[in-house]
Amino acid sequence: MAYETLIVEIEDHVKTIRLNRPDALNALNSTLLAELADAVKAAEENDKVRCVIITGSDKAFAAGADIKEMSEKSFVDVYMNDLFGPETDQLVKSRKPIIAAVSGYALGGGCELAMMCDFIIASDTAKFGQPEINLGVVAGIGGTQRLSRYVGKSKSMDMHLTGRFMDAEEAERSGLVSRVVPAKKLMEEAMSAAQKIAEKSMLTSMVVKETVNRAWETTLSEGLLFERRAFHSLFASEDQKEGMGAFLDKRQAQFRDK
Ligand code: CAA
Repeated sequence: MAYETLIVEIEDHVKTIRLNRPDALNALNSTLLAELADAVKAAEENDKVRCVIITGSDKAFAAGADIKEMSEKSFVDVYMNDLFGPETDQLVKSRKPIIAAVSGYALGGGCELAMMCDFIIASDTAKFGQPEINLGVVAGIGGTQRLSRYVGKSKSMDMHLTGRFMDAEEAERSGLVSRVVPAKKLMEEAMSAAQKIAEKSMLTSMVVKETVNRAWETTLSEGLLFERRAFHSLFASEDQKEGMGAFLDKRQAQFRDK
C-alpha cells in the first residue's frame, strides 16, 4: 500500500518504516499516525516480516505531535476521541520486535514514539526532549511514564519541567538508548541489529519481548515468576530442542518458529 506520510520497504525479513513529512520535521499528524498503525499492523500480519525498524530523516525522527493540527482542538474534542490513544495502541500491542532508529530531533510525541519501540539506536546527532511544557501542556503519549522508567525520576522531571533536550551521549549514559553510532552508520547498524533478530526463533523473540516488558508492568517477584514460567514453557517448543541441539552439535541452529 502506498502511503502519503511514510516510505515503507521490506528487505531480508526486516520492514523499515520511514516517517516522511519533511516540511514539518515528521510531526505526527492524524494521517501519519493512522498510516503508521496500518504499517505496523501489516507487519504483524506478514509472515515474511520478522523485525520492524521505525526511522525518520537525518534532521528529525519526529519533532512531536502536530501542533498546527492540535492547537484549536477543545477538551471535548480530544477527550471524546481519546486523542493519541487508539492511534498508538497498534504499536504498543505489536508482538514483533520494533527498533527505533533515531537521528536528529525526537521531541514530544517523537520521543514518546521512540520509547514505544522495543529499543532505540541513536545517531550521534540525536536530540531527545519532552518540551510540551513550552506549549502549556504535559506529554500525552506516555512521556511522563516511559521516560521516568527509562532514565529515572530526576532526569525525567528535569526534561519535562525545563523542556531541555538530551543529546545522544547523555541518552546512552542514562539508559534511554541502547547504542549510539555516527549518523552515517545509523541505518546500517539498525539493519544489522534487525537482521540478527530476524535470524532467531520468532516464537522465542515474542516470549522475550513479553517477558522483558513484564519488568515495567509488575513487581520483581511477579516478574521473576513470569520469567521462570516463560523459560519453562519454551521447553515445549521444537526451537528449544533445535537451539540446544545445534549448540551441542557445533552447528548453526535452524529455527522454525515452532
Ligand atoms: N508540529 C507541527 N509543525 C512542526 C512541528 C510540530 N511539532 N515541529 C516543527 N514543525 C514545523 C515548523 O512549524 C516548520 O514549519 P514551517 O516551515 O511551515 O514554518 C518546520 O517544521 C521546520 O521547523 P522549524 O523552522 O521550527 O525548524 P528549526 O530547525 O528552527 O527548529 C525544532 C527545530 C527545535 C524541532 C522546532 O521545530 C520545534 O521546537 N518544534 C516543536 C517541538 C515540540 O514542541 N514538540 C512537542 C509537540 S507537542 C506533543 O508532542 C504532545 C504530546 O506529547 C502528544
